[in-house]
Amino acid sequence: MSVLDLECVKGFIRLCEDAFAHGWHEANGGNLSYRMDEEDVDACSACFSREGTWISLEHPAPSLAGAHFLITGSGKYLRNAVLDPAQTFGIVEVDNLGAAWRVAWGLEGAGPSSELETHLATYETALQVSDGANRVVYHAHCPNIIALSTLLPADMNTWTRALWKVMTESIIVFPQGIGVLPWMIPGSPELAQATCELMRAYKVCVWTQHGVMVRAASFDEAFGLVHTVEKSCGIYLQARAANGGEDPQFLVSDEQLRLVCARYGLTPNEDLLC
Ligand code: 13P
Ligand code: ZN
Repeated sequence: MSVLDLECVKGFIRLCEDAFAHGWHEANGGNLSYRMDEEDVDACSACFSREGTWISLEHPAPSLAGAHFLITGSGKYLRNAVLDPAQTFGIVEVDNLGAAWRVAWGLEGAGPSSELETHLATYETALQVSDGANRVVYHAHCPNIIALSTLLPADMNTWTRALWKVMTESIIVFPQGIGVLPWMIPGSPELAQATCELMRAYKVCVWTQHGVMVRAASFDEAFGLVHTVEKSCGIYLQARAANGGEDPQFLVSDEQLRLVCARYGLTPNEDLLC
């Protein structure tokens, strides 16, 4: 089977297209990866190259030994995924120790995303906290999230409460709240480390003045998480601007947030509720 016939590859390309259409991927901004299951790998392994050079990981990822990932290329435009798949993304294989990676398919003319180590570190965390359920890691440059990060302090309590309270169903999508990191160098080991630590407790991590990273079980969940956070940030910004720059006054109360959670059988992060 050709790589392009895999359902996961179709889902990967669809997310790239949808997210570009939403304005989240200027130039090469953002990146996407997917941890393939064994069935998918077996189905297309005849197309794999076994001659790529092994590149050592700065932070070995032993729990990912032997895993294969779809991942966008460094410097590549997500909008081109559908037009030129093998140039825009590819498959990276991790060696049997989880100490190095090589290209198995695609990624022609470029290596994987400069955030590869952040993606892998996040998968390692996801394996520990979600028992392998998280197959997608996605980073987007969403304008409202970035704009809000120039107004709010890099503090998860402030962010989560602001977003929960402007749109009733935000808490249904991210009941555990969202993590927020201060500004850090893109692609750096420090960013990878700080992100995977926050991803232990949260599925969403805001990168101040940069964008957002999520871990999710499916492409739909990844897109939905980013979409909901981005939309809530936009509503908060609009409401605040319409109110002369002051915080809006008529918001969902803590009591109402608890009622929503009770109705939908959700356990919210109590640390973030009053
Ligand atoms: P890459 O093109 O290397 O994926 O970098 C884009 C980006 O958004 C880095 O944070
Ligand atoms: Zn980025």
